[in-house]
Amino acid sequence: MSKLDISVARRADLTGDDRLAEILGNPGFGVHFTDHMLTVEWTPEAGWHDARITAYGPITLDPATSVLHYAQEIFEGLKAYRHADGSVWTFRPEVNGARMARSSRRLALPELPVEDFVATVDELVKVDERWVPTASPDGGEGEKSLYLRPFMFASEAFLGVRPSKHVTYMVIASPAGAYFARGVKPVSILVAEHHTRAAVGGMGAAKTGGNYASSLAPQQEAIDRGFDQVVFLDAIERRYVEELGGMNLYFVHDDGTIVTPELTGTILEGVTRSSIIELAGTLGHKVEERRFTIDEWRDGVTSGRITEVFACGTAAVVTPIGQLAWSDGEVDSSVNGDAGPVTKKIRQALVDIQYGRAEDTFGWLHRVV
Ligand SMILES: Cc1ncc(COP(=O)(O)O)c(C=O)c1O
Repeated sequence: MSKLDISVARRADLTGDDRLAEILGNPGFGVHFTDHMLTVEWTPEAGWHDARITAYGPITLDPATSVLHYAQEIFEGLKAYRHADGSVWTFRPEVNGARMARSSRRLALPELPVEDFVATVDELVKVDERWVPTASPDGGEGEKSLYLRPFMFASEAFLGVRPSKHVTYMVIASPAGAYFARGVKPVSILVAEHHTRAAVGGMGAAKTGGNYASSLAPQQEAIDRGFDQVVFLDAIERRYVEELGGMNLYFVHDDGTIVTPELTGTILEGVTRSSIIELAGTLGHKVEERRFTIDEWRDGVTSGRITEVFACGTAAVVTPIGQLAWSDGEVDSSVNGDAGPVTKKIRQALVDIQYGRAEDTFGWLHRVV
């Protein structure tokens, strides 16, 4: 049970029904925000306190606020799904809460108890329930949800380099449609040959802004060269496949075995990744977590040993990967320019659980409304 006492000050000027319907009709990703936000403060003396839901809006920061200088910051991402009966559910929120606690340890931030994490997310979703879109009945490209973004940052105004003595935790929410504007179509990937994302002993396993900041230049280079995403390799030998900027990877083999890079401390332990490990097992696939080289990817696609490649994460669920390019070559693992059957099957099985269309035999769903 959460011990946080969350006060709620509902705004009087709620988004009107017509405007809300317009936004939920075409939410995009991360561009519209709900009517409210949740904030909790922390100090060493008082611990977590002053939990409140207020009108969504800008926050004022002193220019010396620590996070603006030293990036002591972590965040999470999860979604609330509306089922056909109108009920609203989140997917394994306690796993996100546990990951945020691990991230906070790495970034010398205070730990928010998992039950408080879940309670804060629940409260905001309840207050802004009308912002949870209705999914289209056929799923697929019409999938919609309310994306939830809990985050925590060093809010002390102080320029010394040490852990902040004032920390702010917030949750904001944003209705979401398809992450990739083109829908569930194979994305093209450029190998990051000159940049890495995380080194052993670094912050790769933490969900902290710095990891994303360091991914932006290589990601932009990929986009400038006509690719959708970049894949990062390990920082030492530059040959083990780690992950994309915001998604974990899976390789489907011709005998049905599925391989995903093992957790080495340099990649993010995705909630979708671990869910797929369990789900694929029940769908009859052997799943291996092991180190996987870029040569194994290239050669496997060329020889036909690898039949499908897909990426996974909360935002885009499961996304097929087509072209993989590097400085002097490329291979394509799309199946006739589309997602392969295993990718489609796993994606469908996962979204069917999330949207309540299939039985949740794993106990992954958490009812909010
Ligand atoms: C770097 C990175 N890897 C993997 C993932 C996938 O994690 P999850 O499935 O928990 O969304 C994300 C997205 O949150 C990410 O940012």
